[in-house]
Amino acid sequence: MGKIAKKLLEYYDKHKRDLAWRGEVPAYYTWISEIMLQQTRVEAVKPYFARFIEELPNIEALANCEEEKLMKLWQGLGYYSRARNLKKAACQIMEMYGGELPKEKKELLHLAGIGPYTAGAISSIAYGKKETAVDGNVIRVMSRLFAVEGNVLEGKGRQKIEELTYQELPEDRAGDFNQALMDLGATICIPNGAALCHLCPLHLECQANLKKEVEKYPEKKKKKERKLERQTILLLSDGQKFALEKRKEKGLLAGLWQFPMLEGRLSLQEVREYLKEKGISYSGIEEYEPAIHIFSHVEWHMVSYIIEVEKWEIQEKQEENFVWLSKEEILTEYSVPSAFKVYLDYLKQGQRKLF
Ligand code: ADE
Repeated sequence: MGKIAKKLLEYYDKHKRDLAWRGEVPAYYTWISEIMLQQTRVEAVKPYFARFIEELPNIEALANCEEEKLMKLWQGLGYYSRARNLKKAACQIMEMYGGELPKEKKELLHLAGIGPYTAGAISSIAYGKKETAVDGNVIRVMSRLFAVEGNVLEGKGRQKIEELTYQELPEDRAGDFNQALMDLGATICIPNGAALCHLCPLHLECQANLKKEVEKYPEKKKKKERKLERQTILLLSDGQKFALEKRKEKGLLAGLWQFPMLEGRLSLQEVREYLKEKGISYSGIEEYEPAIHIFSHVEWHMVSYIIEVEKWEIQEKQEENFVWLSKEEILTEYSVPSAFKVYLDYLKQGQRKLF
């Protein structure tokens, strides 16, 4: 075993984080946690992971889970296609592998939502195979350790990081080595001028640290500007029930539920005209709070209106993709993404009467 692996594993044995998906656990736990951790921090994942495993304790339960229940379990984690792919992959595993998660990276790569990182993580962590699991944290650690210049996020640079990581992998503890790199990247070898090199078990091996150039690595990608989209949210209610509409099946937050949303920033007068056009009668209307939600590539700037509709509207306007629901139904049975947090909070607080 090389010096780097030896030091890293010593550090891991002493300081590893105690996480519910570590230790003697089914490979299913490794898979679920790795998917959740792809875009979400460890602390945020913990309660989601516990609830998910309690509700869906194995691959068969996941394969048989209803879409709405799955979305509810995922609500707040974002990137919902991850959850849909989990279910898809669970069905593939039931059909092709008799319900057992395959062990080889090559086989894992055929499953929905599993790319090279996740395949390597499952194969090494759950099954002890000698495979790398290179994510953003590992790229940062390795690019610093070996002072790798240029773009290491894709193409040849990324390949170089893969090769260097593979070279350092110990034969018998690849999973621990990979997780040690992840822990180091998450707690010590951190970005944005905050690296804690004096605590790092590899500070004497780290070429960037020896040159006092830690912040130079990895080379930063030029950020693409986010697209700004303006939306108008309608909080339609008769005081007891609220209108929700289902989003389109393709694209951002596909198939999830939201308060009715109109493109653009509509004035009070424009909303009045819209409601008239739609034949919706109301007894009160008032502007409510604006909100901003930031996705990776888009920013939503929302304005909102509380609209007190006439009771009979609710019977008139029930459709498959446009429903009237009680506060309890919305909060417990429907998955409304956290982009609408301000408006979900409005429901939770108990809406106020307009007139
Ligand atoms: N981030 C992604 N996977 C992880 C794991 N297994 N342990 C800690 N952090 C992680």
